[in-house]
Amino acid sequence: MAEENPKFPLAPPRNEYPRSDQEYAPAVIESQRKSSKCLVYVLVTIVTVSAALLISASIFLRPNTPEVQLESVTVKNLSHGNGTSPSFNVTLVTELTIDNENYGYFEYKNCSGSVFYGSVTVGDVKIRDGRVEAREVKRINVTVDVDVRSNGNLDNQNLSSDRNSGIVKLNSYAKLHGNVNLFNVLKKTKTPELDCSMNLVLARRAVEDLVCSS
Ligand SMILES: *[C@@H]1O[C@H](CO)[C@@H](O)[C@H](O)[C@H]1NC(C)=O
Ligand SMILES: *[C@@H]1O[C@H](CO)[C@@H](O)[C@H](O)[C@H]1NC(C)=O
Ligand SMILES: *[C@@H]1O[C@H](CO)[C@@H](O)[C@H](O)[C@H]1NC(C)=O
Ligand SMILES: *[C@@H]1O[C@H](CO)[C@@H](O)[C@H](O)[C@H]1NC(C)=O
Ligand SMILES: *[C@@H]1O[C@H](CO)[C@@H](O)[C@H](O)[C@H]1NC(C)=O
Ligand SMILES: *[C@@H]1O[C@H](CO)[C@@H](O)[C@H](O)[C@H]1NC(C)=O
Repeated sequence: MAEENPKFPLAPPRNEYPRSDQEYAPAVIESQRKSSKCLVYVLVTIVTVSAALLISASIFLRPNTPEVQLESVTVKNLSHGNGTSPSFNVTLVTELTIDNENYGYFEYKNCSGSVFYGSVTVGDVKIRDGRVEAREVKRINVTVDVDVRSNGNLDNQNLSSDRNSGIVKLNSYAKLHGNVNLFNVLKKTKTPELDCSMNLVLARRAVEDLVCSS
């Protein structure tokens, strides 16, 4: 028996509900499909954009450690003492390069390093603070006074034999303290190291076999 609801006279009779459900259902599913398609597009776009950002970030925002090397060493004012206490003084004029491969500048503080004869410090390396622009190689000249005397813990025998052989092995070491600044977004501390060995050939007043580890 079909009874009309007196409160909702326009409401469809109860037995017609199934049909109206059938009529409305496809439209609802279609709009759900549309919105889920749209959601997939949005998600794909977000994932794609994020991936592109990540890839470019890993290329542009990955701070590399700049490379410090001794490019050349010129020997000035070489003098060596003779006799019971062998010694020599030399001024090394060195040309350093700081290679900054980053897409941001590298700023470093004043720093000091050393020149070693064996394990003994025979000279101070002073590097003034400065800045290397993005993807640039900066060249700086550093003058080092080396004073080797057979005093203190300096091995007397070795110095005599080295002097007689005419070749003095020296090592130089310095560590820069600085920051790589990427697009003013990322600031990363980097401490590139200079670590080189060389032979000072007395007779030729020259430095040979300059080797730097990187
Ligand atoms: C070498 O010695 C001379 C005189 O002693 C001095 O005038 C000159 O500045 C020295 N050169 C270097 C590079 O130290
Ligand atoms: C090296 O220099 C020091 C002072 O800096 C001096 O006393 C010494 O005699 C010099 N040695 C030689 C071999 O010139
Ligand atoms: C040191 O002195 C000895 C003898 O006094 C001499 O034969 C030698 O050539 C000298 N060496 C240098 C580097 O002056
Ligand atoms: C670095 O050293 C120079 C002198 O060698 C000095 O004038 C300058 O003030 C120093 N900079 C800093 C930040 O200490
Ligand atoms: C001195 O000579 C010894 C033996 O030849 C060697 O092991 C040592 O490394 C040398 N020291 C220096 C400072 O050259
Ligand atoms: C370093 O020294 C060399 C030769 O002495 C000179 O040609 C060059 O211009 C200098 N570089 C700097 C940055 O002062």
